Amino acid sequence: MSTTFTIDTATSRATPTPQPMRRLTVPAIQARKGGDPIVMLTAYTARMAQLLDPHCDMLLVGDSLGQVIYGLPSTLSVTLDMMCAHGAAVVRGSYHSVVVIDMPFGSYEASPERAFASAARVMAETGAAGVKLEGGEAMAPTIAFLTQRGIPVVGHIGLTPQAVNALGGYGARGRSDAEQAKILADAKAVAQAGAFAVVVEGVIEPLAVEITRMVSCPVIGIGASAQCDGQVLVIDDMLGMFERTPRFVKKYDDMAGRISAAVADYASEVRGRAFPGREQTYQPKR
Ligand code: KIV
Repeated sequence: MSTTFTIDTATSRATPTPQPMRRLTVPAIQARKGGDPIVMLTAYTARMAQLLDPHCDMLLVGDSLGQVIYGLPSTLSVTLDMMCAHGAAVVRGSYHSVVVIDMPFGSYEASPERAFASAARVMAETGAAGVKLEGGEAMAPTIAFLTQRGIPVVGHIGLTPQAVNALGGYGARGRSDAEQAKILADAKAVAQAGAFAVVVEGVIEPLAVEITRMVSCPVIGIGASAQCDGQVLVIDDMLGMFERTPRFVKKYDDMAGRISAAVADYASEVRGRAFPGREQTYQPKR
């Protein structure tokens, strides 16, 4: 008698019923410069990736998962292990979007070689199409090193949350002439180094528009401008999972309110012995 058996997962929540589409590619995203806006959202779990994938061009496994999923005070203590685990889940849950994984703080800054080792691990363990890293001119040699070795990179400039201590907070950037000149130089450096797209976060709108006109790769805005080549938001922010969100977030739903209401109904039915009802219980077969 065989001692091996397979579990029937046909009814498992974890088993999607995919309608496989050809996945978009990095060159296809690059070709969108100046064309149809690129739709990007963060995703951290397989189920959320399944829901977002048909509507998006890119899914970002952001290190914002530190705050959103793990309740950490900032992104600074996010680890490569966390990014690999969530990155692999998002790749498993998606069939269409280009999936990009954030490089966590401390995993890439020390040297291009260190960045390559970290990024290669992320690519191998997740199956994602590329990585994103924060920083402008200082990170350009690292971006060139990775892209020349087959790792597509998305840059991230302007308000860079991993530098929150150096920046002194999460306020908008580019309000002084000096800051504007620096962010423009960062954008140029990142694009020239070979980034296939660049996220521009939390900058005054005219600067975002100028960067979008100036660089040859797609510019994806967050708290920037509708004139950028695409937009990204943290999924939990736009779904209204938190009471407090940054000024640039538009809440498209009130999921926190809806979850609260649903759970209150459940609690009341459990306490009143109204749940489970006859439909949710198993009766003897006659
Ligand atoms: O970590 C993240 O979610 C991000 C986006 C907000 C751009 O970097």
